[in-house]
Amino acid sequence: MKKKTIIDLYKMKEEGEKVSWITSYDSPFASFTEQAGIDMILVGDSLGMVVEGYDSTIPVTMDQCIDHCQAVRRGAPNTFVVGDMPLGSYQVSDEDAARNAIRFLKEGGVDAIKLEGGRSVASRIRAIRNCGILVFGHIGLTPQSSGVLGGHKAQGRTVASARDVLEDALAVEEAGANFLLVEAVPPEVTAEIHKLLHIPVYSIGAGAPCDGQLTIFADTIGMFQAFTPKFIKKYANIAPIVVEAFKTYSDEIKAGLFPTDEHCYHVIGDIEPFNELFAEYDKKCQH
Ligand code: KIV
Repeated sequence: MKKKTIIDLYKMKEEGEKVSWITSYDSPFASFTEQAGIDMILVGDSLGMVVEGYDSTIPVTMDQCIDHCQAVRRGAPNTFVVGDMPLGSYQVSDEDAARNAIRFLKEGGVDAIKLEGGRSVASRIRAIRNCGILVFGHIGLTPQSSGVLGGHKAQGRTVASARDVLEDALAVEEAGANFLLVEAVPPEVTAEIHKLLHIPVYSIGAGAPCDGQLTIFADTIGMFQAFTPKFIKKYANIAPIVVEAFKTYSDEIKAGLFPTDEHCYHVIGDIEPFNELFAEYDKKCQH
């Protein structure tokens, strides 16, 4: 599989071919993603909840993100990977934003970065673009500012809120973002954004009328158990399968059913010299 470039992604938009996009945080799942032929990977700061066990994305650090990006890149060398800038890595200044975006590319090996916010991060988007780095904007429900939004709540459901979302979308494109992700807004609002903007528009929980879909892999395969957002379709339910496998493993150890001969290495040659060796040690260690 050949890695997609911005040229391929824009061509897909032009030709109406939808982009498939999913999160990944480690090497094995990144490899499964690449084997499945999924177009893009997001190393989301959702890694904080999915693999680090935090109850939000707030504590996630740049170093953790870089670590996970490196693992994903090793597992999926031929997939377009987007690194997600964590809280604190771009909010304070344009310089911070540019410096940390550069770290994502140089150390994390990603192809592009994503940052949350609309009008409020326009100058950050510009600063990162000026470094020659591909930028994904992210508007609608923006989990890093869920405190201000009053929780993980869908946006754009009233006319006033829809106006806010539309203004953010226009500002992100105007600032020079190459792509836009819209999270948890009604499909009617997504369709309007898709109509107004020239850059590719992707959805997570924002319906079908756009250029592609993103989901968090752990929701999609039933691995994340804390909660399941309304917009998730489960394509597998692996948590009970894994728990059942671990239970059987534990039971078999206790019952002496594992390991058996087929799981053991065997001595090379005749066993007799080994028995003589063991007898020698039995004698040496007699108490
Ligand atoms: O961190 C993440 O996975 C994300 C998605 C929720 C869009 O930002």
